[in-house]
Amino acid sequence: MQLREEDMQIAEKKLPHLVTALPGPKAKQIVKRDHKVVSPSYTRDYPLVAKAGRGAMVEDVDGNTFLDFAAGIAVVATGHCHPDVVAAIQKQAAELIHMSCTDFYYTGTVELAEKLASIAPGKGAKRVYFGNSGTEAVEAAMKLARYHTKRDIFIAFHGCFHGRTMGSLSLTASKAVQRKRFGPLLAGVFHAPYPNTYRGAPGIRPEHAAADALAYIENELFKRLADPEEVAAIFVEPIQGEGGYIAAPTEFLQGLERLCRKHGILLVADEVQSGMGRTGKWWAVDHTGIEPDIVCTAKGIASGMPLSAMIAKADVMDWKPGAHASTFGGNPVSIAAALATIGLLERSAIANAARMGDFIFRQTAGWRERHKIVGDIRGKGLMIGIEFVRDQKTKERAPDLRDRIIDSAFRKGLLVLGAGENSIRLAPPLVIDEEQADFAVRTLDACISEAERSL
Ligand SMILES: Cc1ncc(COP(=O)(O)O)c(C=O)c1O
Repeated sequence: MQLREEDMQIAEKKLPHLVTALPGPKAKQIVKRDHKVVSPSYTRDYPLVAKAGRGAMVEDVDGNTFLDFAAGIAVVATGHCHPDVVAAIQKQAAELIHMSCTDFYYTGTVELAEKLASIAPGKGAKRVYFGNSGTEAVEAAMKLARYHTKRDIFIAFHGCFHGRTMGSLSLTASKAVQRKRFGPLLAGVFHAPYPNTYRGAPGIRPEHAAADALAYIENELFKRLADPEEVAAIFVEPIQGEGGYIAAPTEFLQGLERLCRKHGILLVADEVQSGMGRTGKWWAVDHTGIEPDIVCTAKGIASGMPLSAMIAKADVMDWKPGAHASTFGGNPVSIAAALATIGLLERSAIANAARMGDFIFRQTAGWRERHKIVGDIRGKGLMIGIEFVRDQKTKERAPDLRDRIIDSAFRKGLLVLGAGENSIRLAPPLVIDEEQADFAVRTLDACISEAERSL
């Protein structure tokens, strides 16, 4: 692929370079126009107006370059505009953009389904349903679970995020604002405490989080609210994403699998954020050895092209023609981007995610001792959460300090996003190098010190 001169400039940059005050004059203009016409439901933490991206670098409309540790909400797994992904998109767009895999066959759909089936957890045969977004994969999983089991109840967890369409929103229990005034939501959804090993939850002791959370499902939920024989599926994020990058203990996920097998309940792993190599393995559940009946994936799958997949055990995906479909799901251009993305992930990006994650954990190992507002640092690979507190003993949440740190990182050229009430997520492209990881750590370190000095 031929790079234009301006593309080459950004491709050469590995670290931020700011040339205007932020936001710059052009960014200010766009933000002003946006506020008049674009839905006010979006949450923008700071005024980045993106124009171009290469690798882990993003350039704004005023010519400022930023190091991107947000990756479009953990999406651009192979970095912005990787040449292989761009070439695959361009080739496919010139050949065929759309026919609809609901009604016709494509080679790419089959190739990607075969690939996803081969990398999905567990050895048994799989089938794949394609959608356009994370929420569509979750909706499809909800429908398939009801269809296959002929049961109607779903269980999800406090703090979870599974999407914003009516079905997936009924599972989502992350922030009240996401549900407010959208009810009544789907009947038959029950929520259980998530095994948070840092802060626990009502009835969940941090040091016994896995056992307590499992006991709640068996001894409370199944006895008082929902007979397990009527439960179609349990939806779980192996690492809660929007909820704050909180990893469930391995014993909890293994126990959940046992519980599901005992009662004929389907186990659905929502790997929309944690999948596609972000944690240093294909799937976060690959760190635990469990084999969910259904895996939902989206975000990182096609390096930014809209695509999602619901991968189910072949004997579970037993619905009949016409039961479920989508006009755009499995679009050929998105599929081509996904095949190129998967090639790059296999070749080096997943291993790099594991290496860079270890590096960041090593570099931040002393932060809790040095920074009194750092409560917890957790995660796997390049899915890292940092939780901010007012007091390490009481663990009082410090959302204001978290917000201040995100804003001052932006002003130093580092893009990060919040997660949960008081955490920052580090979710860079999986192709960052050590110099970039080190820059991000040093920048955040400085921003945290600044926030502490303001106390
Ligand atoms: C775990 C999880 N599931 C589902 C979704 C919904 O994905 P989308 O925004 O593509 O609909 C998200 C989005 O953040 C997510 O993190």
